[in-house]
This record gives sequence, C-alpha cells and structure tokens, in this order.
Amino acid sequence: MSIFRTKNLDDMVAAARKPGGLKKVLGPFDLILMGIGAIVGTGIFVLTGTGALTAGPALTLSFIIAALACGFAAMCYAEFASTVPVAGSIYTYSYATLGELVAWMIGWDLMLEYGLATSAVSVGWSGYFQSLISGFGLHLPTALTAAPGAVPGAVTYFNLPAFLIMIVLTAMLSWGMRESARLNNVMVAIKVAVVLLFIVVGARHVEPANWQPFMPYGHTGVLSAAAIVFFAFIGFDAVTSAAEEVKRPERDLPIGIIGSLAGCTILYVIVSAIMTGIVPYAQFKGVDHPVSLALKYAGENWVAGFVDLGAILGMTTVILVMAYGQTRIIFAMSRDGLLPKRLSSIHPKHGTPYLATWIVGVVFGLLAALVPLDVLTELINIGTLAAFSLVSIAVIVLRKKRPDLHRAFRCPGVPVIPLLAVAFCFVLMAYLSLTTWIAFGVWLALGLVVYFTYARHHSLLNKQ
Ligand code: ALA
Repeated sequence: MSIFRTKNLDDMVAAARKPGGLKKVLGPFDLILMGIGAIVGTGIFVLTGTGALTAGPALTLSFIIAALACGFAAMCYAEFASTVPVAGSIYTYSYATLGELVAWMIGWDLMLEYGLATSAVSVGWSGYFQSLISGFGLHLPTALTAAPGAVPGAVTYFNLPAFLIMIVLTAMLSWGMRESARLNNVMVAIKVAVVLLFIVVGARHVEPANWQPFMPYGHTGVLSAAAIVFFAFIGFDAVTSAAEEVKRPERDLPIGIIGSLAGCTILYVIVSAIMTGIVPYAQFKGVDHPVSLALKYAGENWVAGFVDLGAILGMTTVILVMAYGQTRIIFAMSRDGLLPKRLSSIHPKHGTPYLATWIVGVVFGLLAALVPLDVLTELINIGTLAAFSLVSIAVIVLRKKRPDLHRAFRCPGVPVIPLLAVAFCFVLMAYLSLTTWIAFGVWLALGLVVYFTYARHHSLLNKQ
C-alpha cells in the first residue's frame, strides 16, 4: 500500500552518523539554552493573564498538568532523537516508522504548529512593544494596535507591530541569519535574567490573601487553563532539529530536551504563583502584558520597563526559532517531493530557502495582524497535542517493528509512559473549544485532499 511506504531507517541513521557533514559543536548546556530560547515567550509573558482568569490562583496547578503532558511526550521525543539523530523532527521520524501518509499529516500538522506559533508570538510581541513605547509617551492609532474584534469595546483593524516584526525577522532569515549558539545564548541569558528579576522583586509584593479562593472555577477551570498555557511549553521539540550538530547526540539530546523542559516548569510555576499573589486574578481581564502589569500594580515601574524589554527580546528569539523550524519542515517535505520543488530551492547567494521563508513570513504575518490571539493559540495547541500523541505512539510502534535498533536513550516504562502521554494530550485536547476542533478538522481534511491529489503522486518514493 503506497500510503504506508516508509523511508529506509538504516540509511537515514547511517547518513546521520557518517563523519563530515554539519559541524558537531553543540554540547548539553547549549541544547538546554536553545530549548529555553524556543520555549519562554508568549506563554509566560502573555497567556498567564488568560490562564489566571480561567483557573484563578490554581494556575500553578494548570502549569504542572501541562508540564506532565509535555514531560511524558518529551521522553518519547528523547528516545527518537537519540535513535535517529537527523534533522526534520517528527516528520522525518514518522516517515521512517509509520509511513508516508502519517508523515505527511504530521508535516501538515507541524506547519500549523510552527506557522501559527510565529503569528501568535508576534501578537504577544506587539502587546509588549506597545506597553514599552507607552512608557515614553508614544501611542499608535488604536485602529493599528490589534486584530479586528481582539479588544472588546475598541475599533481595531490591523495589528501593525505584529506584522512588521514578522517581516523584519523573515528578511533576516532569508538573508541567511545563521542562528549562532552564542547570539542565542546572550538573548536567552537576558530573557532568563528578566524572569528571575520578576521573581526576586515580585516576591516581596505578594499578598497571600490574593491566593484565596485558590480554585474559584474548580477542576474544570484548572484543566481549561492547562489546555491554554500548554502553549508556554511548546518549543522543547525544537531542540531535536539541531540533532546533526550535536557532539554526542545520543546522550546530549535527551539532556537538552528534558533539562530545558524541567527548567521552564520551575520558572513558570514560581512566576504564576507570584503574579496571582500580587494582583487579584479578576484584574487580568483584557490584559496582554500581565507580567509587567503585576509589577506596575506593585508600584515597581522601572522593573516593569525591564520586564517589557526582556519579554520583547525573548519573544523575538521564539519567533525566529519557530519560523526557522517552519521553513525547515517545508524544506524537508519539498525535498521529499511532497510539496512543490520550488519550495526547497536555495538562494544562490544567501544559501537559504528564500521562497519558503517569504511565503511563511507574509502569510503568517497577515494572520498575526488580522486574527485575535486566543483563536490562534488554541489551534496551535490542538495541533501540537496531536503531534505529541503521534510521536508517543510511534515510539511503541518502532519498539515492536525494530527491537534491534540501538537506542542510546530509552523512554522508561514503555508502553505505560507513551500511553500516559497520549492520555494527557487527549484530556487537554478535550478542554479546547468546539470551534478549535472544527478548525483543526478542516485543516486535516484539507491536508488529506492535498495528499491524495498532489503529494502522493509527486513523492520521490513514488518515483523510485
Ligand atoms: N512556548 C513558546 C511561547 O510561549 C511558543 O512563546
């Protein structure tokens, strides 16, 4: 059955382990920082506001539940990454295990995850940018500050800063901006410093009375908020895209994936506890920069300014890494013949897939400018949760199909842990809105149509 045809796993592993190719320069510490670079962004700086409104102070529990779902899936990612250290993330893994149709659907799904994530983070970036310039007394015309319908009671047409940041970063990516580990480390250092600053300064202003009632909307509120703030953890999977540039991938990739996830979980739980301890949760209504709002509420205006700046820099790296990941996936799919060849054509001078990069930048920039953020995040979450479930299932399948493969990192407790990952992902998906499910269904159906009318016939495997 051609829809189940697979790429040869042994060839891929052999190619990835061959000496030469990309320079192997990254160690475990670089990977942890890379992960944190891709993870800490809109989720903590923006969505905690919506999360606090949904769960109340029990938002801390929501973060822990979302982290568990990610943690189980991270073990599965780590097993794959240490077994098949090749670029292309789960699209490539599934092409080798579950067959072409599943790989295509995952790639299609990842386009939703990475692409929309760039839009959503640009919208978060815009909120903080406007907060920062307002500190200097500058204000954009209201019509250009948000997507239509995003701000109740205000007439808005276009989120100009969100669109512009996408275009600027697209220009950088297509120009050939090599994401050097050092530059990334500096940005991440600033971002983490800002979060720590918030913790140190904010902790002094906590009023424990604000934590009561702890769970105003019961477990439904906690789980609904978990389904939203799950977004804050997206990105740890991006560590796997560096697979071919890691010194000892078998050992270091699992450390990078699990280490960055653990680090972020600790930061998130503390930040959400402090935020809801400073500001009564109901006051986060309609706020798109809740972390700095908490500091302003406490009278720490100067520190709030630093947080704005750090958040802007931090979100910039998230957009860059996500947009980069997006173009990589499109590139890989196009190279395999599943998408038009032109999308993997490389610019002769800059050496980047410029066409794919610009299409991604303009399309998702427009989306950021025209669609309200909460609609975007739910869609990204459902897409990512579905992808995590598939990776977890793929681990079980590969153990059965190829017990002989050398696995430097073995996910503990197979099949229990992968099945727990699937279960947690499904619970979170169940708490997303019906509209999100419908939109996701439409996207998947569209994917099937494109596969059967185009990709299947143009696939390189079809020609072999
Ligand atoms: N986890 C990333 C963020 O929160 C996508 O911005």
